[in-house]
Amino acid sequence: MSFLRIGVLASGRGSNFQSIIDEIASHRLKAEIVLLITDNPSAFAIERAQQHGIEYLVILSKEYRSKDEFFVKIAEELKKRGVGLVVLAGFMRIAGKPLIDAFPNRIMNIHPALLPSFPGLHGQRQSLEYGVKISGCTVHFVDEGMDTGPIIIQAAVPVLQNDTEETLSERILRYEHKIYPEAIRLFSEGRIEIEGRTVRIKGYNPIDTYMISPSLTE
Ligand code: GRF
Repeated sequence: MSFLRIGVLASGRGSNFQSIIDEIASHRLKAEIVLLITDNPSAFAIERAQQHGIEYLVILSKEYRSKDEFFVKIAEELKKRGVGLVVLAGFMRIAGKPLIDAFPNRIMNIHPALLPSFPGLHGQRQSLEYGVKISGCTVHFVDEGMDTGPIIIQAAVPVLQNDTEETLSERILRYEHKIYPEAIRLFSEGRIEIEGRTVRIKGYNPIDTYMISPSLTE
């Protein structure tokens, strides 16, 4: 059986990209990252790709006449390399229709809040400002909306009384790095089914792992 070929889109620091690299290196995830695409020439994700011998491309939206043409180019580069799953990892743009049409139900994103609450930018800040007591992160398939596609896995994370945006973001990020590689692993094992907007995962019970930890420092 051939390994899942992954294409990653990232605009920044790329810590989620790194968590997937690590999961593959430790053989827990049988997949290969065949391409990183970034729209930011100074993204730290590029250094991570270089360190791990992963091909990368910088594709600048300003060099294309429209958003659609930009995403046509991205889809072409991914298709050329036989990508079976596109992973958005801190990619700071809403995926365009040409990309979504080229990879139906084959694009994932991670969002730092419990969707459908607090979509869009700064999910952690929105959660704090609203005053919720539980926040978390969500891995979902990407559709044309803003963080609206079918939800695959969520992790719940407590909001503490003295949290700042930074401390809450760090706590959520630790769980992002667990659930994103896990969602990709479940996908790579062919265990994910989508019925309408509900995702069903064969033989999977996330309750033990992703409810709030008894130890808040864990
Ligand atoms: C993460 O918080 C992710 O949830 C959001 O963007 C951030 C990317 O962080 N979509 P990194 O670049 O993966 O470190």
